[in-house]
Amino acid sequence: MFQKKTIRDIDVEDQIVLIRTDYNVPLGTFTDDSEKAFEEQYISSDFRIRASLPTIKYLIEHKASKLILISHLGRPAGKDAKFSLRLVAEKLAELLPGTTVNFVDNVSGAEVEASVEELPEGGILLLENLRFWPGEKENDTQFARDLVDSTHASLFVQDGFAVTHRAHASTDAIAKLLPAVAGLLVEKEVTMLQKAIETPDHPFTVIIGGAKVSDKQPLIQKFTSLADQVLVGGKIAADGYEAESPNIYVAEDFDENTDGARLDIGPVSTMKFVESIQNAKTVLWNGVLGFIEDPTYATASTIIAKALGENSHLTSIICGGDTAGFVENLISENPELQYSLISTGGGAALELLSGGELPGLASLENKSSES
Ligand code: 3PG
Repeated sequence: MFQKKTIRDIDVEDQIVLIRTDYNVPLGTFTDDSEKAFEEQYISSDFRIRASLPTIKYLIEHKASKLILISHLGRPAGKDAKFSLRLVAEKLAELLPGTTVNFVDNVSGAEVEASVEELPEGGILLLENLRFWPGEKENDTQFARDLVDSTHASLFVQDGFAVTHRAHASTDAIAKLLPAVAGLLVEKEVTMLQKAIETPDHPFTVIIGGAKVSDKQPLIQKFTSLADQVLVGGKIAADGYEAESPNIYVAEDFDENTDGARLDIGPVSTMKFVESIQNAKTVLWNGVLGFIEDPTYATASTIIAKALGENSHLTSIICGGDTAGFVENLISENPELQYSLISTGGGAALELLSGGELPGLASLENKSSES
């Protein structure tokens, strides 16, 4: 059971709600479109923005007074227009027709206070990238206090699942200044990922790909005892990963380029992965199986993604930034594909699955707590 209080457990009516989202979205740059200024930026995937909508809509429907959204974007060294959240506010306005969505290029002070004041009831104000100020990563209480004071927020909602593995001002310090509860995205992701490690429906297959053995070793170890089968593909398999348990299957054939580099798992291994999926009730997939940047070597990942998305009888959980991005792209061309959860969290999902504590979750109120 999800242990933290959520927005469903409290009365949000008339509250000014501060929502921590994860709008760390991938940005592209126009370079050759004559209608756009050279190097004008665009959001290349709005997946994380769409994932934040259920909480926003719930709060508006339940008559919260005003919504103040906060997020980081990228890893800027200080204030840097290339990392501004302004574009995200434009995208949000597009996704929420009929709702006022304003943006202010600060996170505290008179300008923010005035912007909150001007905001109509049920309106949204997105503040600028938190990481433009050192206090965010330093988990600085004064930085958090200034933000809370300037926005006059009365409630904090953590809905940026993808950043809950960081102990920053907007995930930790801020939660000590206001009543702090989880949003619907955090509740959904944590519940589904926790079920996968605690009480999965069997047969349970785990597919691990990706490049870094050091990142994936704890996951393989964890799931060797929890899952019926652990299938290993991607660069870790190509580099000769050795199974340490009979329920681990490491890809046995590979597609190679002319230099002999193993860039995708081969047809024999892919079929074994598909067979395992067909027999499973739960499948968790983390890590792409080949060098997907080149479509020639995205074959196995595409077959596996389709085998999962076309099977409505199983619980399918996709996690990891590259894997989620890959599946999201595939869905845009194949909208019939359906998954139980495509996690927005890369590092956060891995941390949770490997049994680590998420500071951004730990800082929220427990369901049993009276405060
Ligand atoms: C992510 O994309 O994984 C989160 O937004 C966290 O970003 P970070 O790794 O820069 O803290």
